[in-house]
Amino acid sequence: MMKFDNSLCVGVEQSALALGLMIPQRIDFDRAPHLLIAAPSGSGKTYLLTYLLGQLAKKPGTLLLADFKGVDFLALDGCQHYYKHTAVENALQSAFDTMQERMADPQPDAEPIYFVIDEWAGFLSLHPKKEQEDYKQKMASILMLGRGVQVFVIMALQRADAAYISGRDNFGNCIGLGTLSRESMRMLFPDDTDKIQPKPRGRGYLHIDGKGLSEIVVPRLRDREATMQVVRQKLSNGRLKA
Ligand SMILES: Nc1ncnc2c1ncn2[C@@H]1O[C@H](COP(=O)(O)OP(=O)(O)OP(=O)(O)O)[C@@H](O)[C@H]1O
Ligand SMILES: [Mg+2]
Repeated sequence: MMKFDNSLCVGVEQSALALGLMIPQRIDFDRAPHLLIAAPSGSGKTYLLTYLLGQLAKKPGTLLLADFKGVDFLALDGCQHYYKHTAVENALQSAFDTMQERMADPQPDAEPIYFVIDEWAGFLSLHPKKEQEDYKQKMASILMLGRGVQVFVIMALQRADAAYISGRDNFGNCIGLGTLSRESMRMLFPDDTDKIQPKPRGRGYLHIDGKGLSEIVVPRLRDREATMQVVRQKLSNGRLKA
């Protein structure tokens, strides 16, 4: 299999920042796949996603952005791989179908697919129970099997709750920002709930499977408009390749 760099910077280390040092905190999907981000409203989920999208846009492979709210990424409207409101369903289906095609006919040099979803819980809660279960099932399959065929999920929601995800086990990386609810704490950081303190927006905790817990600060975006431009270009790029 061809080797791609599936690592991302998610912030800087808080304790080092307090000493004036910027130590990047990186996650690597080849070591621990997928990323779950939970934070109450206004705590910086979409801001962090924008920071990540800027990095993903510069990587080889395909980027899919599913944005249930459809208000934060107006500049991306009309892009081929930008899915807002109910079209989140189409993004999920595309990621799921492409994963299945890849599994049926594995290609050693398949480029990564990064499936980014903002407000997954909002999307689910729009649907009746039966459809919710169907969407959750598809997502669970991608989370379980995607890694092997280079399909990675980055999901943001307000509360990490079993009603929305069938478990966090397949998320190798979890981030919680701001003041987390008890259930989010338990879902994101089951072994460290006693260490979690309320944080201001843009600050919180990162847990990487096999590495443990650290405190992170999401850095300021230097130029949001320029970031949006590269993301726009990336989301307009071609067909999903199986
Ligand atoms: N790391 C950060 N540095 C500076 N400003 C930030 C940071 N994170 C968030 N903000 C600002 O805080 C506000 C809320 O952030 P954001 O929209 O990302 O929250 P959210 O968690 O997505 O909220 P919601 O659940 O309502 O969508 C925005 O105006 C954003 O610019
Ligand atoms: Mg948001």
